[in-house]
Amino acid sequence: MSRFLNPAKIGLLALIELYTNKIVPTSSIVDVLSFITSYLIDNDIINSASSPTDQWQRAESMIDLVVSISDFEKVLTPHTAASGIPGRNLWYVFVDKLWRIDSLDALHGFFDNCSALLEKTKEELRRDAEMGIPPPAPDAIQLSRNSPFGAFVRRSQLEFTRLRFHDAIELWKDFVKYRKATAAYYGKKTPAFHELSFDNVLLTGESEWGQSVEAIASVAYDDVFRDDLNATAPVSTDDIEKILEFQIDQMQKYGNRVPLDIRHRFHNLITDSYMVPSLSHYLSYLEAWRAGDYATSFDYLHRYFDYTMQNRDRSFYQYALMNLAVLQADFGCHKEAIAAMLETVSTARENRDMTCLNFALNWLFHFGRAHSEVTQELESKSQMGTGKESLAFLRSRAKETGTWSLWSSALMSEAKMCLSHGESVATALEHLVRSSQILVERNMTSMIGSQLSINIALWDRLGVAYLSTTTCEVFLQCHARHAIFDDELKVASRQASMLTLKGKYDEALERLGTLDSDSLRAWKPNQYWHKFRGIIELRRDLHHNNLDGAELLLSQLLQSKSEDLEPDLAFSIDTLHVECLIRRGNLEEAFIKVEKMVVELREENKDVALRVRLLLLKAELLDKCGRPQKAFTIVVRATNIAWRARLIPYLWPAIGALANILSSLGEFEPAIQLLNAVLPRSLECENSTMTAKLYSHLGDANVGMAGKMPPKSNKRREYLMKGVEAIEKAFNHYSSVEDIEKQCEMMAKKATIMKAAGDYVLANDYAAAYLALRRDAAQLKI
Ligand SMILES: *[C@@H]1O[C@H](CO)[C@@H](O)[C@H](O)[C@H]1NC(C)=O
Ligand SMILES: *[C@@H]1O[C@H](CO)[C@@H](O)[C@H](O)[C@H]1NC(C)=O
Ligand SMILES: *[C@@H]1O[C@H](CO)[C@@H](O)[C@H](O)[C@H]1NC(C)=O
Ligand SMILES: *[C@@H]1O[C@H](CO)[C@@H](O)[C@H](O)[C@H]1NC(C)=O
Repeated sequence: MSRFLNPAKIGLLALIELYTNKIVPTSSIVDVLSFITSYLIDNDIINSASSPTDQWQRAESMIDLVVSISDFEKVLTPHTAASGIPGRNLWYVFVDKLWRIDSLDALHGFFDNCSALLEKTKEELRRDAEMGIPPPAPDAIQLSRNSPFGAFVRRSQLEFTRLRFHDAIELWKDFVKYRKATAAYYGKKTPAFHELSFDNVLLTGESEWGQSVEAIASVAYDDVFRDDLNATAPVSTDDIEKILEFQIDQMQKYGNRVPLDIRHRFHNLITDSYMVPSLSHYLSYLEAWRAGDYATSFDYLHRYFDYTMQNRDRSFYQYALMNLAVLQADFGCHKEAIAAMLETVSTARENRDMTCLNFALNWLFHFGRAHSEVTQELESKSQMGTGKESLAFLRSRAKETGTWSLWSSALMSEAKMCLSHGESVATALEHLVRSSQILVERNMTSMIGSQLSINIALWDRLGVAYLSTTTCEVFLQCHARHAIFDDELKVASRQASMLTLKGKYDEALERLGTLDSDSLRAWKPNQYWHKFRGIIELRRDLHHNNLDGAELLLSQLLQSKSEDLEPDLAFSIDTLHVECLIRRGNLEEAFIKVEKMVVELREENKDVALRVRLLLLKAELLDKCGRPQKAFTIVVRATNIAWRARLIPYLWPAIGALANILSSLGEFEPAIQLLNAVLPRSLECENSTMTAKLYSHLGDANVGMAGKMPPKSNKRREYLMKGVEAIEKAFNHYSSVEDIEKQCEMMAKKATIMKAAGDYVLANDYAAAYLALRRDAAQLKI
């Protein structure tokens, strides 16, 4: 197999020659040249703006061209030739040109003649002048030596002279085979065409050798004549490496797997070539990794590095270790991962590979944040902290060495840490803006996903759901095609969960359904996707009071160990478990579970938001037990933390819980004041359950107020009506999330209040509505 040349490249050279000979008419130049360029210039440069699917298509068309000549036909047939026989199109001229290369000798001539396409150097011009050769006409098209075309012509020439005789013959035979598809067409248009026209030597020898020429032909062109089904495609090593690199690039950049049909084609090409480049082991490793096949990916990784280690020096060893560490971490072997990454750090330090070292340190930092239980031991032993100091260190290192991606990622981590420790929002924003500036200045499109994810989280924490939704939309519309699929998945899940909060379960599931199914073939994203869907369905089941279904889902979700889950999913599943226990009336077990979560959280020093949520959950449990006042310190603490950290979506429920405690103490007026103050702002969070709960507290407080007024007074009636109004609103919000239990509770409250107000007709109506709801609920369960 030749290293660079293949029949398709001979075709491209011929086309370039037609162009320089001005046979391509002016009107067709753009089409023809862009066709040639698209194969000569690297995919990245032309195509970074198009979507991954387009890029796959382009890669596929590159293969098509290598395998068959019909792509040339498609492009050239519509164009007429600028000179020559009228009525003949460019395709004919092209085919004619190829058939004029009628022997191995002519192929040598063809490559020799390529020099004429290139601009002459000064030296050559001088020599020509000495020998009396006239300089080229001023209007002749000549390729400058360093232009893409010029470089391609020179490289082809060089590679051809380098071919060993055997490889040259292979190339010639491949070329004959490649060209064979045009024989019927060319034969019809050319009277002198003969069966043996493909090799002039045979043709001229026929008179001399007579019958035996066929025997000679079948010996020389054995596999060309047989319509061999197993025929190998005429590829060069260069093509195969390009294909491999392209696939690896795609997998690393977007985290996708290779689409199935393309994979088969690529695979056939690669197995056709008897020389398997070691890069293909790396590709197999990536593929197995994405497919979640631990054993195989491990095997291929070893194989790849075994091969590369043999050929090159050991300067790549740290990358082997790094890949190993990432692989281990992905499959949940955290301790092994850390060990491998530490080894990477020391090897990279030995080899003075700063990029690798910085990457490894950054990875260790993030890993330590996500899995503090594994790194704790490490921290106490070594000086390697996972705190702010190491981030600041990374940041300054990145700035010194000019590693922009590390710099901005360190800034983002600092912003994230600020938020999760509940520190100043302004500082977090400052970090975000600085990292954003780097991203924009250096045009690092692939990192915008992480940047916007933090932005989304920030708006969420500030309780402005609208801006958070908008940011999601902006990412998906403008940046998703440059980003790794994981980012897209996370943002789409975020959208789905916001829809769920508003009770739009079907829309949420649909949103998840629109994700690219090919990308979802990768194991990790697939797991995440399934679990996220499970969580949405679980929430709906809980609201429909379909507890059997919910428990079934829960038992499945709880099966995955917490280290396999993303931290955000793990927490959601745990809280939903608690909710399920509450709905079952199993408060004791719910309490035990919450206590366990609190302990875990304290050990791991995680996000303050989680702490506030747990405090609120505990307060809710106490309220459910009929002991709201016991929760007083808890609620005050939650309020305090939420306020200091500006965790707005949890501040309002905390204040709601506080108002509830005040009501239970008979302090209805301050409770009403508090609730009236927070309710308008709480609507911005677009969390229907939360709003419903606040309204329900408001209703209770108003009814309590009514109780303090003299019987049958107007004041009492007024407060009762206010109470009913609030309960009515709570009912509506609960309806929008389809929470049957709560709807019933609100309806019952309304009936009771109306009865207390003396309006028996309405009270009866409400009671009837309550019964109807109960019936519906029973049906929903089925
Ligand atoms: C930034 O990169 C994108 C794709 O990666 C490209 O389309 C765009 O032209 C680049 N912009 C600048 C200013 O380099
Ligand atoms: C190469 O150029 C020479 C002189 O211009 C011409 O006679 C010959 O046919 C060309 N060979 C090929 C294969 O085009
Ligand atoms: C194709 O290859 C297979 C296995 O290598 C072989 O068994 C079969 O005979 C081959 N077919 C032809 C037509 O050469
Ligand atoms: C929505 O509100 C409910 C009730 O306060 C709360 O339990 C839940 O955590 C909130 N969800 C989010 C995402 O804020």
